[in-house]
Amino acid sequence: MSEKSVFVPPIKCQGIKTKLVPFIIENVHRDDAGLWIEPFVGTGVVALNLAPQRALLSDKNQYIIALYQGIQSGKITSKTVREFLEYHGSILEERGAEYYIEMRDAFNANGDPLYFLFLNRSDFNGMIRFNKSGYFNVPFCQKPNRFAKAYITKICNQVARMAQIMDGKDWRFVCCPWQETFESATENDYIYLDPPYIGRDTSYVGEWPEEEAVLLSEYAHNTPANVCLSMWRENEFRRNEHLYDHWSDFTWYEHNHFYHIGAKESNRHPMIEVLAIKR
Ligand SMILES: C[S@@+](CC[C@H](N)C(=O)[O-])C[C@H]1O[C@@H](n2cnc3c(N)ncnc32)[C@H](O)[C@@H]1O
Repeated sequence: MSEKSVFVPPIKCQGIKTKLVPFIIENVHRDDAGLWIEPFVGTGVVALNLAPQRALLSDKNQYIIALYQGIQSGKITSKTVREFLEYHGSILEERGAEYYIEMRDAFNANGDPLYFLFLNRSDFNGMIRFNKSGYFNVPFCQKPNRFAKAYITKICNQVARMAQIMDGKDWRFVCCPWQETFESATENDYIYLDPPYIGRDTSYVGEWPEEEAVLLSEYAHNTPANVCLSMWRENEFRRNEHLYDHWSDFTWYEHNHFYHIGAKESNRHPMIEVLAIKR
């Protein structure tokens, strides 16, 4: 699979693995009869491209899960998404940042997954962040004409394609803490782990402290299922000691890539990503 042929899902988030999908798929060897399990499914880009027959996909973010359950059941379609984004997008064009804040307040009161999609696709950098009280607090991208026709069509196509990929497959989306998702794993199954970064206040939904990262490693070692972990190994400034301390008995497959700070091409920074596989 080439980078260009990767399907990009309708939701964005920090840490999305779009660029690593070909590398992940190349290194994961599994029997499709087993369950594909992702306790940190995020945007779902890995599952959607691997397209297993059976999957258990969970996340603590209830809005992503509700959106994906809606697309799966047919309650949310490219048509309903188009109507929603056209209607609210045209008001956004007139009223700009003030309307974005109104939509954000409305979402924080109603929790509607379509509002979540609207915010995620018009906020700063497609970020997902909640404050300590659980309020979504990412600022506006500052582009009032964000929902231009072509952009809405792109999102609608992503929704339609996602529904198509899931069609006829046995996939279950669940909102729960990662520990619960481990419970149903058997030796025929494969668990893909993509937890938040340690020590950073990632605030996708709450924090990810070192103790929780260590606990995850214990679960990964004790489960009868095979496990594959995505984690950064080092950049030019720092080495990820947690990976060496808690995952060194897994087999590491490495991938080099570059990330950018700001828009300047000269601000390219190398990063080594690892896939640590149990067996
Ligand atoms: C790095 S992101 C996953 C990205 C995903 N692989 C992708 O490519 O889109 C980490 C995910 O873990 C979720 N998360 C954070 N803490 C969690 C917890 N305690 N239990 C379950 N999910 C959690 C976040 O909501 C976020 O979606």
